[in-house]
Amino acid sequence: MFTPIRVLANNGPVRVELARWNDQLVVIKKLQNNSQMFSDRLQREAEVLQKLKHVNIVSLLYSQGNMIVYSYVHGVNLSEALQAGALPISRSIKIIIDVLKGLSFTHKNGIIHFDVKPGNIIVRGESALIADFGFAKDQALTAITSDNVMLGTPNYMAPEQFRGERDDPRSDLYAVGAVLYHMLTGFPPYSKQVIQFLIGDRTVELEPLPPSAALLSNIVYKSLSYLPEQRYQDADTMIEHLSKAIGIA
Ligand SMILES: Nc1ncnc2c1ncn2[C@@H]1O[C@H](COP(=O)(O)OP(=O)(O)OP(=O)(O)O)[C@@H](O)[C@H]1O
Ligand SMILES: [Mg+2]
Repeated sequence: MFTPIRVLANNGPVRVELARWNDQLVVIKKLQNNSQMFSDRLQREAEVLQKLKHVNIVSLLYSQGNMIVYSYVHGVNLSEALQAGALPISRSIKIIIDVLKGLSFTHKNGIIHFDVKPGNIIVRGESALIADFGFAKDQALTAITSDNVMLGTPNYMAPEQFRGERDDPRSDLYAVGAVLYHMLTGFPPYSKQVIQFLIGDRTVELEPLPPSAALLSNIVYKSLSYLPEQRYQDADTMIEHLSKAIGIA
């Protein structure tokens, strides 16, 4: 028996709610109508989360039909945390390393998240968990119908994903770079010119990081490379480079 506490998000027919379940706080994501596309997406998210038990990924407690129950993470989403502007460098690195640990595990399980953005990262002090596997692709399973729809937020989206390619884990690593850039500068890469960049206009320039974060420039620029071959090839390598930087941050 769930006792609702408050609504956390309402996105079209999907409601996300904080509730009490027995003695614990939980988050319930529930479909409010019979949309087949959203229902497929919810079921795919539940299937994916069943495979992903990891400290940096929200944990699935229960799922049934058009409902998913997660254990509640006491924190705020990164999008809320960024409303006050850029975050301190060492906190940004620690948060991003946690996100990468979650993604490393995800990718090793043959799953790509495809919607890494501040709103889908829950932060608790200097640690973080990845949420919302609603757009994830499990390479072991056949694609769901909504795979053909343009999904996600262009601000953090890799160019190849924007073109509709959905089979490269390095698209998630681009998104991580975009989130890190936002944490360090207070705004997402390319701001209003993002679509121009995504469609291949190489004259669009990235505003440099503030001088205090200059030591992270190489890492941020590499992860934001237009071509996947020029980015970090896996999450673990990016973690390694960031861990070295934290020593000097
Ligand atoms: N396990 C959790 N613990 C705490 N908060 C959570 C949890 N899961 C989700 N949330 C909060 O609820 C919000 C919405 O969840 P989620 O992103 O999974 O749903 P969504 O409908 O796909 O939202 P959106 O379309 O905005 O990405 C998240 O931004 C986060 O703040
Ligand atoms: Mg979300």
